[in-house]
Parts: sequence; C-alpha cells; structure tokens
Amino acid sequence: MIRRPIQRAVLSAAIAVLSAVTLSGTVAGATPGEGLAPLGSDFLWGVASAGFQNEGHAPDSNWSRYAAGGAVESYGDSVDFYHRYREDIALAKSLGVQVYRLSIEWARIQPQPGTWDNDALSFYDNVVAEIRAAGMRPMLTLDHWVYPGWEVDRGGWSAPQMLDDWLANARVVVDRYADDNPLWVTLNEPVFYPLQEMRASGLSPAAMPAMVDRLVAAHNTIYDYIHARRPDAMVTSNVAYFAGAEAPLDTVIEDRIGPKLDFIGIDYYYGATPATAGSIVSALQNEPWKSQITPEGIYYALRFYARKFPGRPLYIIENGMPTENANPRADGWTRAEVLRDTVYWLQRAKADGMNLIGYNYWSLTDNYEWGSYTPRFGLYTVDVKTDPTLTRRPTDAVPVYRDIVTANGVPSGYLPTRPPVVCSIVDPPSSCTEPVTFPR
Ligand code: BGC
Repeated sequence: MIRRPIQRAVLSAAIAVLSAVTLSGTVAGATPGEGLAPLGSDFLWGVASAGFQNEGHAPDSNWSRYAAGGAVESYGDSVDFYHRYREDIALAKSLGVQVYRLSIEWARIQPQPGTWDNDALSFYDNVVAEIRAAGMRPMLTLDHWVYPGWEVDRGGWSAPQMLDDWLANARVVVDRYADDNPLWVTLNEPVFYPLQEMRASGLSPAAMPAMVDRLVAAHNTIYDYIHARRPDAMVTSNVAYFAGAEAPLDTVIEDRIGPKLDFIGIDYYYGATPATAGSIVSALQNEPWKSQITPEGIYYALRFYARKFPGRPLYIIENGMPTENANPRADGWTRAEVLRDTVYWLQRAKADGMNLIGYNYWSLTDNYEWGSYTPRFGLYTVDVKTDPTLTRRPTDAVPVYRDIVTANGVPSGYLPTRPPVVCSIVDPPSSCTEPVTFPR
C-alpha cells in the first residue's frame, strides 16, 4: 500500500517528468543579504496535531479498525496525548506560539448514535481550557479523517445518512466551543480524505463522487452554522497543496467551497521539479523521508492562492519535514535548516504583498503517521516503538522555532541554505517561467 504523501510524490514526479519536456526557467539575481522584514507582531505562529494521530486510547473508529486489522503498523497508544496533553501544551507554550491545532474526535465524543459522552467532551473542554490558559488560541479541526465505528457499520461516506450524522456531531462541537473563538478547520485535506477512505474503509472508487459532494455540503453547511453562532468566526478547510497539479485538483472541492472560506488554509510539504523523476523509486518504497524538500515551493503555493483569492488571508495550516525514525536524511536537510529556509520564503511572500497571517508547524511531536511510526515530523521526537516512557526529545528545530517566533521571522540578512531549484513546477508553469529571485 502506498502512503498518501507518497502518492503525492508519485504524481508530482510524474508531472515533473512530463513538464520537463516543455518548461525551462532562470533564476534572476539581486543583492545578497538584503534586509527582509519580519512577519509582523500580529502574525500567528502555531503547532498542529490531530486527535487520532496523537491521543492514543482510541475509541472504535474507521481508523482504529483499520490499524487493528494488521495491514498497517499497530497503533498502540500513540504518543498518549490523552494523558500528556498538559505536557505537550506546555511544550508549545515554551516555544512562544500563539496557536495550537488539534481535532475534536467524533469517534470519542459520540460513541453511539444519538449519544454524546460527557467524559469525552470534558477531556476536550480541559484541553481547550489548558490551551487558553497557556495564552494560545485553539485551532479546532472538526474532521481529521476519523469517524465512529458505528458510522462505519452504516456505510461511512458511502451512505447518504453520513452527511446528517456528521453535521449533528459538528453542531455539538460548534455549540460547545464557539465561545472560545477558535480558528475552525472543518475538513482536513478534503481531496485526500476519499483516497484515505479507499485505503482505510474500503470506499469504492465509484462511491468517491458522492463522498466528495457530501464533503462539500458538510463544509458549506457547517460554515453557515458557525457564522450564525459567531459572525466574526474564522473558518477554513485546509487544502493539501499538491505540487504540479493543484489547479486541476482545486476543481474537485476547493473551488466549490471557496466562497465559504474566511481564510485559505494551505498544507505544503513537498516540491516538484524535473529532477524529481528519481523519487518515483523511493515513493514506491513507502519512504516519504526521501520525498523532495523545496522550501521555496511554499512561496509558489502561497502565490497560487494569493492570485486565486485576491486579498483573502492565507494561513499555512501544516508544514514540516519527515525523517525515517529520526535518522539524518540522505539529502542532508536538517529540520532546523528546512524550518529557517521555509520561514525565509514566508517572509518573501509577505514582502511581495501576499496576505499571509499564520503558520503552523506539523507537528509538535512525532505521532502515528496513518499506518506507521517510522515517518517522523515532530519538533519533539518520540520513539513510540522503543521508549515506553514516551519522552519528548527536542530536535535541532526547537530552539530555532523559538527564535523565529520571538523575532517573527529569520534575521533580515538571512539567506537560505540552498538556492531555489531551477524550473520548479510546484505551480506550473509560473513557478518555472516566473521564478522567485534569489538572492532577493
Ligand atoms: C495530514 C497529517 C499528516 C501530515 C504528514 C497532512 O497531510 O493532515 O495528518 O500527518 O500530512 O504526512
């Protein structure tokens, strides 16, 4: 089974091969070390996580069933956020970030049809209160790809009833937390949700269009509900920026929910260039830590949405770098380097007039990467498989992120460790034909 980041890499690489035939580009030069403005005191720095991936003690759900089925690595209790949330929130606070993203797990709070569990809701009450007490704003995801086991039995997203059931639960969550004024994420990466469902819940390809329609309806309906509760609410659904193919992919969902996005949430991980053809091999080997890192691609992703939704606030909901079991990457990138270089490109985007309001690092800690503990994205690494104490150990990126948050960016004279790739096709053709200048 090919993991989802790998699917992205495969498609990106394939597109890169095709595009390389027709595209070429140059990188314009300028003065090295030119001053770069910080992102501003109102910029939102954050960390991102998700319920199933972090909590442990999983209730019956599509994913708990899948993980228990033996097709993927067993789940255990992940990094046990369920019992260690105070510690993790304290770690986030010590970074100085303003936003803590998590998901409110439907499977936990509604264990039976028609019944919401008060203890489970209290758990999330405590988490949200802890985040607020630490001076942060919660970013709450209503659906990070996991739903109750009883809903699986009803047919999951294949069944028409799913939409009403989903909305009934989402309204409970909105009613409970609207007064906390969180940043809302309705559906995590909705275009990838059906692909995950094919894998974890046996969704048939023929059922995909109906699921997509239900996701669109779910977002648009709950968007209105949230705004009825709180007119100034900030609501999004984070798009998984797919290097090389986002424009056509947006027609599937993003363009249908665009009018009901208060800000554009973007997840950016991997780049694409003609040179990524070789990564097909590593992609087929289920090794996302070999996927190509091109920090400047985040600039192209932001530019794509700045042009598509002029003036609309842009927020990087997820960005990070995978390693294999916390080992050094073969390409030499370290977490600290990628983070600094990425933030440089965020500052460039803002300096070029893009309305960028926030950035979350994925993730605060390592966690269950949808079937495996081997890919590690955490600022703090946790060796779930070999360390029963689940100790959070800081990576080199922890002090770097703290400095970035304090200064609202990298120092004005900072230059990325690597120049931008030539003829990026993160946003074809413009990322190749209209490349960023470097140095500035
Ligand atoms: C997902 C996360 C995942 C991350 C890294 C994002 O697409 O929302 O759940 O862990 O990518 O692969």
